[in-house]
Amino acid sequence: MEEAFYLSVLSLFYLQEFLKCALLGGMAGAPNLKNSEVLESLVKKQAADGKLYAAICAAPVVALESWGVLKGLKATCYPSLMEQLAASSATAVESRVQLDGKAVTSPGPGTTIEFAVALVEQLYGKEKADEVSGPLVMRSNHGDEYIITERNPMKWTFTDSPKILVPIANGTEEMEAIMIIDILRRAKATVVVASVEDKLDIIASRKVKLEADVLLDEAAKLSYDLIVLPGGLGGAQAFAKSETLVNLLKKQRESNKPYGAICASPALVFEPHGLLKGKKATAFPAMCDKLSDKSEIENRVLVDGNLITSRGPGTSMEFALGIVEKFFGREKAIELAKVLVFVRP
Ligand SMILES: *[C@@H]1O[C@H](CO)[C@@H](O)[C@H](O)[C@H]1NC(C)=O
Repeated sequence: MEEAFYLSVLSLFYLQEFLKCALLGGMAGAPNLKNSEVLESLVKKQAADGKLYAAICAAPVVALESWGVLKGLKATCYPSLMEQLAASSATAVESRVQLDGKAVTSPGPGTTIEFAVALVEQLYGKEKADEVSGPLVMRSNHGDEYIITERNPMKWTFTDSPKILVPIANGTEEMEAIMIIDILRRAKATVVVASVEDKLDIIASRKVKLEADVLLDEAAKLSYDLIVLPGGLGGAQAFAKSETLVNLLKKQRESNKPYGAICASPALVFEPHGLLKGKKATAFPAMCDKLSDKSEIENRVLVDGNLITSRGPGTSMEFALGIVEKFFGREKAIELAKVLVFVRP
């Protein structure tokens, strides 16, 4: 099983590489991309050479279109900018991933994984795309409303704003860490990102550099409305070895306060430390054999009282939205899912 995980991790490496070819969106970031002359000439050369170029969110209209590389092509972008795209040299189409000529465009954060896998397919073919997307645990019904399965419902409480601890370590799965941090901050939770290593700088599983807000020893002085662990093999192993983190989690469980984990972490951190006793949980598919109760592992996001667990990078947006739902209600979570273009607006 561990071997299977290593293999899947290797194939995930490709996704990271391919993400580098694409221009990322972001309402504030896109104009900065547009204003880069170096990038503009790179992309224009890419288009002139008949090579792949791609952009997501605001970047298709703000950068690509303004450089003239979408002329006459079908393209898409963030919903609120579609009118601007329609009035431009491109043909605006509603799509989660649009390919025309060598231009690939996509509308927002919630379509990023589909977008990235489409780039893999363009570059390396369908077989490689399937190999990469399998271990991501992607959805089959992109754009539909997602389901959070709940057993033993209890109210998750907070005062003012939920205080949430997100530990990270070398080998943490960056997609999962970023999804959790980003979505909970969008929901106005107070998210503390704490390094379990002896430095703030972390090298995540696909070599993305992350910087924590504080070291865990410092963060452990406070109490939290939720402690939530991203996955990634190396990260989960580091969490399991951290006495400080394990003690914090045990205290959280004993005081019946919420805690959660995704991917490798339920199996490698919670299970061996007795944090799943009497609870239903799920985990990364290839690691579910480590769970003593496997009866509910098929759920993409599973809440059992004060515990929330989930399966992998492709379920991390639903996982984070499930946390938003527990603290702020489903309506707020769905509203956010639409802003992200995870659920069809
Ligand atoms: C984590 O990665 C950083 C950066 O590469 C490195 O300096 C540090 O020693 C690593 N920590 C461990 C415990 O391996």
